[in-house]
Amino acid sequence: MEKIVSLCKRRGFIFQSSEIYGGINGFWDYGPLGAELKRNVKDAWWRTMVHQRDDVAGLEATIIMAPQIWKASGHLDTFSDPMCDCLLTKKRFRADQVEPSSGSAYWYLGALTMEDSEELGRRGCNPALIHILEAFLIQVNPEGQNLSPNWDAFAPFAKALLLAKPGVLVELEQFAQRRFDPNEAGELMAAVIKQNGVKMISEPYAVLLPAGKPPESARKTAIQFYSQRGYGKVFLLGERTEKIEDSQRFNPENGSLLTAPRPFNLMFKTYVGPVESEDSVAYLRPETAQAIFAQFKNVLETSRQKVPFGIAQTGKAFRNEVTPRNFTFRSREFEQMELEFFIKPDEAIEALCGQVASVADSQPSTSNPQPNWGWEVWHKYWVEQRIKFYEDIGLARTTLEEYWQKPEELAHYARACVDILFKFPFGTQELEGIAARSDFDLSQHQRFSGKPMTVFDEELKAAWAKLKKTKQDELWRRYFEARKRYLGKMGLEAEKATGQARADADGLAKGWYVPHVIEPSAGVDRLILALIASAYAEEETTDEKGKTETRVVMRFHPRIAPVKVGVFPLLKNKPELVKKAQAVRDLLRPHMTVFYDEGGAIGRRYRRQDEAGTPFGVTIDFDTLGEKPELLDTVTLRERDSMQQIRVKISELLPLLLGKIR
Ligand code: GAP
Repeated sequence: MEKIVSLCKRRGFIFQSSEIYGGINGFWDYGPLGAELKRNVKDAWWRTMVHQRDDVAGLEATIIMAPQIWKASGHLDTFSDPMCDCLLTKKRFRADQVEPSSGSAYWYLGALTMEDSEELGRRGCNPALIHILEAFLIQVNPEGQNLSPNWDAFAPFAKALLLAKPGVLVELEQFAQRRFDPNEAGELMAAVIKQNGVKMISEPYAVLLPAGKPPESARKTAIQFYSQRGYGKVFLLGERTEKIEDSQRFNPENGSLLTAPRPFNLMFKTYVGPVESEDSVAYLRPETAQAIFAQFKNVLETSRQKVPFGIAQTGKAFRNEVTPRNFTFRSREFEQMELEFFIKPDEAIEALCGQVASVADSQPSTSNPQPNWGWEVWHKYWVEQRIKFYEDIGLARTTLEEYWQKPEELAHYARACVDILFKFPFGTQELEGIAARSDFDLSQHQRFSGKPMTVFDEELKAAWAKLKKTKQDELWRRYFEARKRYLGKMGLEAEKATGQARADADGLAKGWYVPHVIEPSAGVDRLILALIASAYAEEETTDEKGKTETRVVMRFHPRIAPVKVGVFPLLKNKPELVKKAQAVRDLLRPHMTVFYDEGGAIGRRYRRQDEAGTPFGVTIDFDTLGEKPELLDTVTLRERDSMQQIRVKISELLPLLLGKIR
């Protein structure tokens, strides 16, 4: 991975954002080659998903939208990750991603400052109590060594305390008899200290030590923890130990206890307009999808599409990730390419076609979409389409995996979800999710906005009227139950949910329904990282003089390569060669990205382009100028991966290259 990160910076694919100021975690900039690569990838997606289909229309919506959208979508209430902080360093972790650790945990009930312990004495506290206190306070020198672990001194003083303050701590006697359970001792001391009107720092803390580490190091860390809270020199209270196995409650880097996990909403908040108040709060979109749902009706009405059809959008999304990591894989600002493909509910398909096609008897990748496809076949179809897309831009099928989420992993509204995973250098991880989201999203926006999201289907109305009564009843009931289930889950009281679901099912019988949706949702940045990782290759080569060297080559598919062709005059100081090379550059430039390079040895120029992933190199030499008359107006075309060179007529160069890069 380090080699890839270093190449990305060295060759201008990806830079750290704000690098001159030390960077900003989770944000990345794309340099000259990265910007081209990204553009090519997004164009390829748009071409495949929108231009090459009749049934998908595009959308370009704003990043900031009405905050009610995020209420309806559920993001305001549930779009959060469990987060915890190191109590010592404040470093933040995603609670479910903390590396589990084992060992002995040293727990402390709290601490007492030096001044407060002296104050106890000044208040005329019974001398016996002071002794007890001293016995219990773990006095530690700055190296963390315990100076007086004088637990055995406790019993006689406990008795003395009882005499001095009868009735104060009745359980003390029993405690003294049981001798010294440090946990109880700590609690007891806390009570004694409080009772004497002195504040103790009653904040429990723990340090996990791996086997073999001395307890002093836990004490040292604990003292550091309490001192950092502004208490100066402290005595630790109530030390006890506990064996711990595979726990995620401790910072794996320093053993410090972490805070309890708490939900952290990932949406970036901002204010619209000059007044920063609750009324002007808005959010940077955490996904591009919601705008598609919000504009569903407008697109439907203006694009002359009919269900089934899709709306596609690419664009920025923002998530305040707790722990951005793995280079650009988990960023705080990233781009998505999302399609919401709207389909009829299965009950409508059954009314129209008599039967819903099953996955087993349809072959989505080879057949064209059919009217009898229900959500399952459409979902499978999109999984296959998306995998084909990845293969078409150069990701080998062997680097991809499908992960079908288990029923217990699915969101409550989802019927199925497949993650397309890529074998990244740091592990096999999600590239894209393809979810069958039922009619949840449009139904939510219908409820929250009060605007109907239903569509009318004349054919459905006619087909329904021709169904037998028993079939009508069966389909009506299924639709009614599904709508009632959804409304119930959304918190509608039973009577209202039943009434609304009945109206929805009556609507279906008249040709009205809320479309269901299949959502292939991909991340541009993850795809760029996957393409870079899969393109990176190092190989041993031998030059004409027999010298071996390592060639770094980015084997991008020509379709997405940032630069398609390098154009090189053999020598820079021969004006005829330069002039001809510039003419070739100008011939190709309107049709593809060309990098013109006249500096340095030709071998070095090839290597530079190999590292940039440029699939073709065109060299203009003396034969081009007619040194060998039969080669006049021909150039050398070098292919990046094989390094083979062929002679091509300039007049044939453009169609030849266009054929290879499209
Ligand atoms: N509308 C559905 C949705 O947004 P998601 O699984 O949260 O689903 C879809 O995101 C894709 O967006 C992911 O598969 C991934 O490629 C990309 N993505 C999500 N969070 C990301 C992040 N923090 N950094 C980079 N890409 C991210």
